[in-house]
Amino acid sequence: METILVAGATGGVGKRVVSNLLANNYRVKALVRDANKAKALLDDSVELFEGDITLAETLTPQLMAGVSAIISCIGVRVQPVEGDTPNREKYYQGIKFYLPEVVDSPEMVEYEGIKNLIEIAKKYLSPRENLLNKAQGEMPTPLWIMISSAGVTRPGRPGINLEEEPPAVRLNDQLGGILTWKLRGEDVVRESGLPYTIIRPCALTEKSGDKLLIFDQGDNMKGQVSRETIAELCVQLLTLPQGCNKTFEVREEMETVSSLNLKEELANLQPDNEVATSGIQN
Ligand SMILES: NC(=O)c1ccc[n+]([C@@H]2O[C@H](COP(=O)([O-])OP(=O)(O)OC[C@H]3O[C@@H](n4cnc5c(N)ncnc54)[C@H](OP(=O)(O)O)[C@@H]3O)[C@@H](O)[C@H]2O)c1
Repeated sequence: METILVAGATGGVGKRVVSNLLANNYRVKALVRDANKAKALLDDSVELFEGDITLAETLTPQLMAGVSAIISCIGVRVQPVEGDTPNREKYYQGIKFYLPEVVDSPEMVEYEGIKNLIEIAKKYLSPRENLLNKAQGEMPTPLWIMISSAGVTRPGRPGINLEEEPPAVRLNDQLGGILTWKLRGEDVVRESGLPYTIIRPCALTEKSGDKLLIFDQGDNMKGQVSRETIAELCVQLLTLPQGCNKTFEVREEMETVSSLNLKEELANLQPDNEVATSGIQN
């Protein structure tokens, strides 16, 4: 039984990743800011570790003890300017239904925080048997799976028509450069040397995850996708070397699907060293 660390386990996607992992017989360790909140949301079998990725001193080596891979569902907290219900019902309805604001600093969470978590992962993540594949010249399965966002390279892109873009792209400046810092966080992951997969979902919904998925690269995609689907995808990626060292966008179609050949879809995507993933020069 492998232990997977879920960062952001109290979030909309994170809590679904946790239940999907448990249903697939993984052990789960959860990095959470508030253990009491996590206890109310997550199964009793989940090992809780309290920490804040913006505070490097809270990410002790113990966090990585026994952990063989990480799924990061962390995102800077967004809410309507007028506030939200305790269960964040307005946020989960979707950003297009309210005027949003960020609660914390996107630079600190999406960039500095991810840098802190990557540093500790690089030092203390327990080796996994997939590294054997690497020794044999094959792609390993990812050790770091991260949820980013469609649109991260669009703020400031020449020729972009903001009127036609999703709210997060249009409001990037007002939201503290949320997408700009997410892209910087992606860059940290791509440069880390850890085998990774970066998922850039379109607008997240609370709908059921039974729709056909569309994958693409180049960051031009618009649409929506359910949190349930993204959580399931994260867990499937743990065993799929075809997704390793790739960054891709994903959305869903209206039609429902009975089965998806995920291996084939991932194999058709380009590795990041063969496509331009980042709009920013470091
Ligand atoms: N909303 C959308 O339409 C949309 C579209 C594309 C991509 N995304 C991205 O997809 C990801 C998942 O979205 P979601 O709706 O599941 O987000 P969410 O419900 O807001 O969950 C975010 C998680 O990150 C945690 N977190 C925030 N700051 C942290 C910190 N400093 N240290 C440790 N944990 C921290 C939160 O913990 P607390 O519970 O303690 O706050 C929460 O568990 C996010 O990266 C989001 O930006 C969202």
